Amino acid sequence: MTQHRQIHFAAHFPGVNQQTVWSHPDAGSQIEFESFRKFAQIAEAGFMDYLFLAEGLRLREQKGALHELDVAGRPNTVGVLSALAAVTEHIGLVGTMSSTFNEPADIARQLQTLNVLSDGRAGWNVVTTSNAFTGENFRKGFYLPLDQRYNRAQAVVDAARQIWQTAPGDREHLVARHDELLDFETAGTVPPEGLGAESGRSPMLVQAGMSPQGRDFAAKNSDVIFSHYASFEKAQAFRADITERLAANGRAPESLKVMPAMAIVLGDTEAEAQERSLEIRRAQVSPQTAISFVEQVWGRDLSDHDPDGPLPSFEPTEGLAAEGWVNTYEDRFERVAKWREISARENLSIRDIAVREYNYDQFIGTPEQVADSIIAAVDGRAADGFTLVGHLVPGGLAEVVEKVIPILQEKGAYRTEYRQGASLRELMGTTAAPLREQETARTSA
Ligand SMILES: Cc1cc2nc3c(=O)[nH]c(=O)nc-3n(C[C@H](O)[C@H](O)[C@H](O)COP(=O)(O)O)c2cc1C
Repeated sequence: MTQHRQIHFAAHFPGVNQQTVWSHPDAGSQIEFESFRKFAQIAEAGFMDYLFLAEGLRLREQKGALHELDVAGRPNTVGVLSALAAVTEHIGLVGTMSSTFNEPADIARQLQTLNVLSDGRAGWNVVTTSNAFTGENFRKGFYLPLDQRYNRAQAVVDAARQIWQTAPGDREHLVARHDELLDFETAGTVPPEGLGAESGRSPMLVQAGMSPQGRDFAAKNSDVIFSHYASFEKAQAFRADITERLAANGRAPESLKVMPAMAIVLGDTEAEAQERSLEIRRAQVSPQTAISFVEQVWGRDLSDHDPDGPLPSFEPTEGLAAEGWVNTYEDRFERVAKWREISARENLSIRDIAVREYNYDQFIGTPEQVADSIIAAVDGRAADGFTLVGHLVPGGLAEVVEKVIPILQEKGAYRTEYRQGASLRELMGTTAAPLREQETARTSA
């Protein structure tokens, strides 16, 4: 049998994105615990590495108003993951917490509590949050420019890891920082389990964000990057870039895994799967969603445009009017030029373009074809695994578990059982980033 690299899977329970078709007759609730429990147990039956919860601290806004299509009422991430710790045994539990809007002592305590409750299965997706409106939820009302967001993220991660390094009740050492980024002092307040930020049992770190700053941050701190795949070649280049940045920080390529977002659409034949994919995309991108997407790229109000009509004839505005929904490091003018070309060639409307572009990547085909694509991506070092995003929650994942995973197992590319008592980091085969110098220099009380 051909030797394959081992594939990792995360199961993404969506919340704030357009991915999920909540109006589907088989869709469950985004609030009730039963949805989360069912989803986690399906993922665990598929021997997946971790369940992943995104977080939006505020309903999204566009043009200064609440976005009408947003998902409201999702319960708090760490609360849900803690409850899931009791109804699962092996799967990792990764929650998103913004380093821009949370304080390190609070993050450290919440995550370490989850880590104790789950016996080493906790993970923290560090996001910097790319919008200003979230700041309105907080007394300071603040928001930071990109560079400062990552400076703060580094300070918050350093501080949290320092706190994990301190024994409970240790009054000798304060973890403290008093500067423009952070202003706090704390001592020995977290539960003792898995102590030591470099330990294989301390909370695993994930980073979502693909800018150069984000990549450097991941190479310095993280076990996992949650990214976009785009294409085999682009993903390969992204992985190679990350491997270089890891080396610059004295870390081995395998110490960090790249887990791009991916949807899987299956059919009995390839044609059937393609048809299903189109159907799903059209359900995901309503006419209103299509206009709102194009508005983010154009950076201005386009509500007078017909979603079934052509793209705007004028150029996008200079500077970003939309607040961080669209990847800001991508050239919007290039993107628009590409869309113009495709729509002229194929006579596509605004909505047709949005259906094609406003989406995560998809592997589409028969279970055998999809399994082969996943293996090719991982063997070809375009990814180390995938963060699976489905359109149907909580049950959609079952199809992947039933139809694709057995093929991957048969080909020797995926685990057939969990190792008893493995921590999340042990499941992922990652290594905690070394503590940075600033971290170890503690302030004595
Ligand atoms: C795949 C992916 C998922 C993300 N998920 C979240 C999220 O759940 N909550 C959040 O506040 N930001 C999320 N972000 C946004 C990041 O926090 C970050 O602000 C944004 O990507 C800008 O960082 P970058 O310039 O390094 O890409 C996500 C970003 C990516 C790429």
